[in-house]
Amino acid sequence: MQKKTTVEKATARKYPEPVVLVTTHNPKGGDNVMAVGWTTTVSYKPRMILVAIDDAAYTYELIRKTKEFVVAFPSVKMAKATLYAGSRHGHKIDKIRGAGLAVQKARKVKAPLLRDAVANFECKLVKIFQPGDCPMIVGRVVAAHENKDGKLKRLYYSYGKRFVLGGVRAE
Ligand SMILES: Cc1cc2nc3c(=O)[nH]c(=O)nc-3n(C[C@H](O)[C@H](O)[C@H](O)COP(=O)(O)O)c2cc1C
Repeated sequence: MQKKTTVEKATARKYPEPVVLVTTHNPKGGDNVMAVGWTTTVSYKPRMILVAIDDAAYTYELIRKTKEFVVAFPSVKMAKATLYAGSRHGHKIDKIRGAGLAVQKARKVKAPLLRDAVANFECKLVKIFQPGDCPMIVGRVVAAHENKDGKLKRLYYSYGKRFVLGGVRAE
């Protein structure tokens, strides 16, 4: 039986949700990483992934500039790094280093793969559209990679007053 409630209260009950890490490349030097919860596959053939990225994010600036990015699915072991990547902007800091993330060269884009992620998808920008208050970025998958450890579990997150990922809490 359902009871009428507020959007906020209903939203609080829909977690846990997937979270990904989006990496980008700055042609003038430096790579960046951010956490994105608003993401889904939006086309099977050709494979396309959507990420909704706030226009204040450095990642948004770099995707518009380079027209490419990597979507990495973090493992449960990457909760702290994911919180780090998702709680500060990368305009002036090296978040990949700050988060302690190991990288690997991608095949078809300049943004890096995250070595310890469960899987990585290299994407080329297809379209940006904005039906609401957040830009929606669609990328075509041009290469895919999976962790050699087939038992590695991927990370999900909950939302309350604090983010909770893989048992790690953050203010
Ligand atoms: C679990 C989690 C999920 C997040 N999901 C999103 C999201 O879907 N879209 C978004 O714009 N920001 C999201 N954020 C916030 C960004 O990661 C944050 O604003 C980040 O500092 C942007 O980094 P950048 O400016 O270096 O690109 C999320 C943060 C966390 C911790």
